[in-house]
Amino acid sequence: MMGWKIAMCNAFLVVMLVLLSSWVSWGEASVSYDHKAISVNGQRRILISGSIHYPRSTPEMWPDLIQKAKEGGLDVIQTYVFWNGHEPEPGKYYFEGRYDLVKFIKLVHQAGLYVNLRIGPYACAEWNFGGFPVWLKYVPGISFRTNNGPFKAAMQKFTTKIVNMMKAERLYETQGGPIILSQIENEYGPMEYELGAPGRAYSEWAAKMAVDLGTGVPWIMCKQDDAPDPIINTCNGFYCDYFSPNKAYKPKMWTEAWTGWFTQFGGPVPYRPAEDLAFSVARFIQKGGSFINYYMYHGGTNFGRTAGGPFIATSYDYDAPLDEYGLLRQPKWGHLKDLHRAIKLCEPALVSGDPTVMSLGNYQEAHVFKSRSGSCAAFLANYNQHSFAKVSFWNMHYNLPPWSISILPDCKNTVYNTARIGAQSAQMKMTPVSKGFAWQSYNEELMSYEDNSFTMVGLREQINTTRDNTDYLWYTTDVKIDPREGFLRGGKWPVLTVFSAGHALHVFINGQLSGTAYGSLESPKVTFSKSVNLRAGVNKISLLSIAVGLPNVGPHFETWNAGVLGPVSLSGLNEGKRDLTWQKWTYKVGLKGESLSLHSLSGSSSVEWVEGSYIAQRQPLTWYKTTFNAPSGNEPLALDMDTMSKGQVWINGQSIGRYWNEYKASGNCGACNYAGWFNEKKCLSNCGKASQRWYHVPRSWLRPTGNLLVVLEEWGGNPYGISLVKREVASVCADIYEWQPTLVNWQLQASGKVNKPLRPKAHLSCAAGQKISSIKFASFGTPQGSCGNFQEGSCHAFHSYDVFERYCIGQQSCTVPVTPEIFGGDPCPSVMKKLSVEAICS
Ligand code: GAL
Repeated sequence: MMGWKIAMCNAFLVVMLVLLSSWVSWGEASVSYDHKAISVNGQRRILISGSIHYPRSTPEMWPDLIQKAKEGGLDVIQTYVFWNGHEPEPGKYYFEGRYDLVKFIKLVHQAGLYVNLRIGPYACAEWNFGGFPVWLKYVPGISFRTNNGPFKAAMQKFTTKIVNMMKAERLYETQGGPIILSQIENEYGPMEYELGAPGRAYSEWAAKMAVDLGTGVPWIMCKQDDAPDPIINTCNGFYCDYFSPNKAYKPKMWTEAWTGWFTQFGGPVPYRPAEDLAFSVARFIQKGGSFINYYMYHGGTNFGRTAGGPFIATSYDYDAPLDEYGLLRQPKWGHLKDLHRAIKLCEPALVSGDPTVMSLGNYQEAHVFKSRSGSCAAFLANYNQHSFAKVSFWNMHYNLPPWSISILPDCKNTVYNTARIGAQSAQMKMTPVSKGFAWQSYNEELMSYEDNSFTMVGLREQINTTRDNTDYLWYTTDVKIDPREGFLRGGKWPVLTVFSAGHALHVFINGQLSGTAYGSLESPKVTFSKSVNLRAGVNKISLLSIAVGLPNVGPHFETWNAGVLGPVSLSGLNEGKRDLTWQKWTYKVGLKGESLSLHSLSGSSSVEWVEGSYIAQRQPLTWYKTTFNAPSGNEPLALDMDTMSKGQVWINGQSIGRYWNEYKASGNCGACNYAGWFNEKKCLSNCGKASQRWYHVPRSWLRPTGNLLVVLEEWGGNPYGISLVKREVASVCADIYEWQPTLVNWQLQASGKVNKPLRPKAHLSCAAGQKISSIKFASFGTPQGSCGNFQEGSCHAFHSYDVFERYCIGQQSCTVPVTPEIFGGDPCPSVMKKLSVEAICS
């Protein structure tokens, strides 16, 4: 009897729970999840998301970036929250300008998109100190990202502050706002593994702390296999199809699908072919994935001193679908847009349940999704990196290019193949708009003994001394040379050896630059060892140590040192080697020009500048200034710094960032095939050239006339080579196979309006305000190469050019069907042909 009652009770409870959960997911505003997907307002969704980090662009750029993300088929914008930008001093908060988080989220909402807010507050992100404020390091007893009281207190305080702010602005989905997900911590799994028990205790604490904040929407933890329930653990990587969440009732989510990779000074510029990115996404979706976020969708710029690393470049372009400047990166943007449309056509079947997998060959598979209401979607995959596959699926034949997936939203017709790009590609150019600036110069004083200098015995760690308020720290010492030294009488010069923990070092002997040494992201330590020119009597050795961004990742990176920690020695003297490490050293934090704010509108007139033929060229530690008028138009702008070496640049007091053109990219920039596993070293460009030549100048930082441009050159450069350039489309290309499937054609056929196979069309479109002025290349046949360097193959239709000249010249955009007839007949029957065309935009 008793048992029966309990059973009844249990049954009642179950019914209540089911009702409750259905109420939770059917209610007006709700975000829930099950093993299949995130549900928004009771509806399971396949969500396509993209990262746009708000401080990496300007508020004036935000609406356009968000709009282009929406047009590209995104449902969600993902961003970290950048603690060090928001709390520059303990308890002093900043949410203005590029750090106006609420404004950013509201703009996303206005565009009708959702937000995935990665509060962290650890971000990583190649951002200075991983997003931690530097003052946090000096909280007594602190140890970052582990089971440490002071750290947890600070983290909880900031996280709560952000959550409360979002609630107060009613930004959570359950309040009618756009935020559907939040993230706590970031990729803590590997760290927890290193730290063991305290790591485990910390992640459990972080999870509970987050959940207790009651945001009403799910929390995620990325790369955290043991994420405590109900937090969803998610995957980050170049591919994530192999991933499964740690509980069967959690959905399979990919929070960082890397669209490319970051650039470091001294490294080449990585890129990821659109075909492989699309393949990885289709692969994830076909394996039951329901949330994918492109990291980055718009990478943007590390303005000021926000770049981390060290050695992360100022550009955070990332080869993202929207380039650093906010322009479409084609064909990547368009190819992904087409992918998203194809995936969305499959959505009803995709969210209905798990796929049935069928083998179609050794390296070929079909993943089939069916819904109860009868919709069916199939993904046909060819994992072979080298060859095409002819497969048959449900009595139909399909030709699959190597390393590709075809999408069939009706289980019959292909609307998209990841290796067949229908979207146009574009070549960009940087056109000078003003050059030959009238410069003035000011020579930075070499370390002078001023009020704010101090002397002590031995060598000091740099960050503890500068608190990262500046990149620069002077170390100066005196060295007495006896007139009887052998080297003064024709012997070999003594050798100065300096060991520094990083990151770069200029060595001055008696006021003359004697040499420069620097590390790299992989090995930031610096060793300087060079013969130096000393004289009898007292010599001044001044070491200018430079930090190039604080580390953002690694176990307890907050404890990593920078600066000259020694030993410092002089060898080749009569006495042999003299150790200078434990001498008296005089320190000065920052440069004189920095303390005078020479970069700012008000500070720039506080010194006397020289002009005309007196201006310093190829001189280390020189400030340059000039003024210029804003160029007309609305194309994005950049500074070409190719003739400069290393330093920083400001416009109207706003920092454009660090430049380092002298650091050339070393690496192997060979050809790169989209097919095969991708990693960040596979496809590289710019080898032998500056890792970064152009530096983004946001239009909104300019006024019509009299803009102040200030450059601090550390090493020596020619300012007359600096120019302001605009970024624009140089040419557009289409590269399309005959019979290549397109979604538009499928829709026409599905609507019953047409009942024969349709040819694809080539669409070419220059930027608004431009026109197609000439056809650089056109060939229907077997052309080779890619946009910018197409060549004719053995088969070529003679009228290839004529057609485009007729349809396109003088137009902003044009469309040409890829049919043999239009090109004057089939130039090589029974050969698979394609059309390649490049049109110049001007
Ligand atoms: C991830 C990290 C991101 C970013 C990325 C590399 O591991 O979560 O913040 O650093 O690597 O760009």
